[in-house]
Amino acid sequence: MIDLDANATTALLPEVLDAMMPWLRGGHANPSGSYRAAKQARSAIDQARAQVADLVGANPEEIVFTGSGTESANTALHSLDQLAGPGHALVSAIEHSAVLRCAESLQREIRHVAVQGPGALDIADLERQLDGAAWISVMSANNETGVIQPLEEMAILARGRGIPLHTDAVQAAGKIPIDVRSLGVDLLSLSAHKIHGPKGVGALFVRGGLRFEALLKGGGQEGGRRSGTENTAGIVGMGAAAVLAKAHLAASRIAELRDAFESRVMAGLTGVTRNGDPSRRLPNTCHLSFDGCDAAGMLILLDEAGIACSAGSACMTGKQKPSHVQIAMGIPEARAKTSLRFSFSRLNTLSEAIEAADRVVRAATRLRSVQGSGVGPVVVYSPP
Ligand SMILES: Cc1ncc(COP(=O)(O)O)c(C=O)c1O
Repeated sequence: MIDLDANATTALLPEVLDAMMPWLRGGHANPSGSYRAAKQARSAIDQARAQVADLVGANPEEIVFTGSGTESANTALHSLDQLAGPGHALVSAIEHSAVLRCAESLQREIRHVAVQGPGALDIADLERQLDGAAWISVMSANNETGVIQPLEEMAILARGRGIPLHTDAVQAAGKIPIDVRSLGVDLLSLSAHKIHGPKGVGALFVRGGLRFEALLKGGGQEGGRRSGTENTAGIVGMGAAAVLAKAHLAASRIAELRDAFESRVMAGLTGVTRNGDPSRRLPNTCHLSFDGCDAAGMLILLDEAGIACSAGSACMTGKQKPSHVQIAMGIPEARAKTSLRFSFSRLNTLSEAIEAADRVVRAATRLRSVQGSGVGPVVVYSPP
């Protein structure tokens, strides 16, 4: 299986597992305890906090560990919403459901920041909607198209009006350099499993001095900002993954693999459209529409051919609706239903990228011949 679904999740690196093992085998002490084993767990968590802080240019005290990227985003929005005065909230139309669904559940008017065709948020539209806004949540990079958002510009506008801003950096972290100070954000969400760390661990950057209201209340762990006994092994794993992600950033050749894959697919097939501004994409993400190839059929043929990838985002898989991201970008529904996301990780190789491209070309050619024959897509869904 060639895994081209890194935006859905990534494999745990052996170094990360090694760092976690002592805390899975025997290191079970509650980090809040007063005995030696507990203090060791506490200091391992503190080290991980410094490691995660270093990935995004934060101070360690500004990092709060959570149970996922979703929890991190929900915590951020809850805090913003509880502490803000009246007014609407601004979220982008292309947010992950962790932000969109959470925002919709709040007792506040939610307005959407529009996106331009190539997938970047429309700064002028944000500016138009700033009057009376209570808080803003806009993502750093989109999980489907990989388009990197003009966050710095948006943060300048927000700061100018004193409006707090959260960013979902779950996809951007570890793929492009992130610095919370130069971005000028107040809150920033991260997830361990997107950077070769364990699943079920996330982190929230909370700018020092920002007023904050916890979502999970209880024993007062994480400085009262996220109660619940800490997942020592998971947190240590996230710290180790953050160190490796930062070290790998400078030397990353991932864009070469993605570009080799993309150009080979586009050379091997007609009727392929690349979605998302190529000049501002995450280096690992490729989002393509294949004329005449229904995405559900492609996923089956590609699975059979040993390629893991996604139609839309992983969370949309199995649903027939085109993704809200593509619709917001103005991609016609018929084309949106033919789109696939291929996302690379540092574990992929160039020969895999080339082999994967050849398999994609074969799958699309086969699907087109069946669909074009008038037999209908139902044939494609049955096993060969
Ligand atoms: C942009 C974005 N935000 C948030 C999440 C949720 O992260 P987690 O799976 O850790 O809850 C994801 C996961 O796909 C994502 O892509």
